[in-house]
Amino acid sequence: MTQLQISDTTFRDAHQSLIATRLSIEDMTPIASLMDSVGYYSMEVWGGATFDTTHRFLNEDPWERLRSLKKQITKTPLSMLLRGQSLVGYRVYSDDIVDTFVKCAADTGIDIFRVFDSLNDERNILQAAKSIKETGKHLQLTLCYSVGEEKHLGGSIYNLEYYAQKATTLYEMGADSICIKDMAGLLSPYDAFVLISKLKEILPCPLQLHTHYSSGMASMTLLKAIEAGIDTVDTCLAPLALRTSQPAIEPLIVSLQNTQYQIDLNLNLINKIGQQLEKSLLKYRDYFDTEKSAVIDTGVLSHQIPGGMYSNLISQLKENNAIDKLSQVLLEVSETRRDLGYPPLVTPMSQMIGAQAVNNVLFGRYKMITDQIKDYVYGMYGKSPAAINPDVSKKALENYTKGKNPITNRPADNLSPELNNAKEEIKSLTRDLHDVLIYALFPTTGLSFLEKKYSDKPLIPQKPPEHIETPIKPNLKITSSPQKTKSNKTKAYNISIGGDTFLVEVDPLNIDSMQNPSLDQAPVASDQEMIPNSIPVKINMPGIILKFFVEIGQVIKKGDPIILLESMKMETTIPSPESGTIVAINTEVGMTITNQTIIMLLKE
Ligand code: CO
Repeated sequence: MTQLQISDTTFRDAHQSLIATRLSIEDMTPIASLMDSVGYYSMEVWGGATFDTTHRFLNEDPWERLRSLKKQITKTPLSMLLRGQSLVGYRVYSDDIVDTFVKCAADTGIDIFRVFDSLNDERNILQAAKSIKETGKHLQLTLCYSVGEEKHLGGSIYNLEYYAQKATTLYEMGADSICIKDMAGLLSPYDAFVLISKLKEILPCPLQLHTHYSSGMASMTLLKAIEAGIDTVDTCLAPLALRTSQPAIEPLIVSLQNTQYQIDLNLNLINKIGQQLEKSLLKYRDYFDTEKSAVIDTGVLSHQIPGGMYSNLISQLKENNAIDKLSQVLLEVSETRRDLGYPPLVTPMSQMIGAQAVNNVLFGRYKMITDQIKDYVYGMYGKSPAAINPDVSKKALENYTKGKNPITNRPADNLSPELNNAKEEIKSLTRDLHDVLIYALFPTTGLSFLEKKYSDKPLIPQKPPEHIETPIKPNLKITSSPQKTKSNKTKAYNISIGGDTFLVEVDPLNIDSMQNPSLDQAPVASDQEMIPNSIPVKINMPGIILKFFVEIGQVIKKGDPIILLESMKMETTIPSPESGTIVAINTEVGMTITNQTIIMLLKE
């Protein structure tokens, strides 16, 4: 009999892939201790997106979530996914931040650290590996599985020798186990057999497979992986399985019954937990992708987009009112990836390539390059698997402040220690190192979270929006042209619904924000703020203003940087669309803007 071990991803990757990481601790708590009794090898409960979403959207302290799960799950080891030198964030951090984060995570409850680098550049996992070894916890090092134009194992970059050599290097770095991370469901069953047979032959440590169902191959891939001798596989509970998530555990258990392979898990208990989870998920149904009927995406084999990234692209395009450009963006993702040297599409590279592809479609190719892509081209993220298109490299490093020629040393070697500065900057709002790390990793959203955490009002957990059944279209007609009202600011319409007619007053200044409810704080300049004959500056990208590069009175030319904007989780230096002298600035740092927001006013 061959014993197969199972890692469960329900509390991390499964809800990250399907409902934008929104499952709250309240809905995990009722099933957490039951999950603990199933007999899993480990449970993945924490990672980049959970750290981000908890503090950004759910008003939940990410550390508190881990602490709470550790209290409830006492037998099963807890694991987290760590993005190497980028930890749970989107850039490379200094070694002291990495070391402190790892030690805090180990102290709070992480037993197994799964560490990867999105470029498979092992220099980016050196520090994390060293720190994890010092804590005595399990170090799992990861190969990000990717393919080139061939769409299969092989070709000039992502071939068997590439993975064998990478795996050997990771083992020599002290890995207690190695994971193959197939974030887009690209690993086909027979390629999995070849790859896993080879790695089992050369690796003295256990081997684990993490795959996604996206392309529809995952169940078949798991079977071939099991036949090739994989030690552990990742699955999740049926209600959050399949689609862009992991394969479900339930059919796998039954498939392997009466074979030489054995899974020691309690199927009855799993079914019971599944039913309970199913009930909690009702309120999250608006987060599920219901754009199409197919639950698998055959297109993933050509555009190679992992689930989390796919749902991000959808929401980014919706924010930009450009969902009709989705198919164009999917094609552009492949092009952008080729230009940038075929990085594997995994966080943060997947977000960076995705956001850049959206920019390329909305504003023209490489007209608006995010600061992260500039840093990548410069070498701040590590070595690209293949050469970067020299034209793109030239455009990206034009006016780039850090340097004209790409760097070749370990990215973190270019950073000074950051922890003490962060401590100093945020000392009035922090009680411990955990707070400091929230700020150090997420300076903008982390700061506003800490302000809420330490304000007089208690943190109120954010609930999923109330599900509203799509109403049967009422027979709604506007039966008059706009009429002037007393206030002169509002307009009045006669509106008939069914047979009744109502006089409705509408304030046109509020219409823009009504159309974009997620950005409802977006300011709209009122008449008083308009200066006669001035030119309003608006930009075609929604986001949060992080920084101003200009001030009132300054003369600027079209193309000069005006603001640093956080959009699609990327930072972009926004060039001025107009020339002139700045006579008013109508926005401020921290403000959410839309394409209707007047950022500033210029005069010729
Ligand atoms: Co995954």
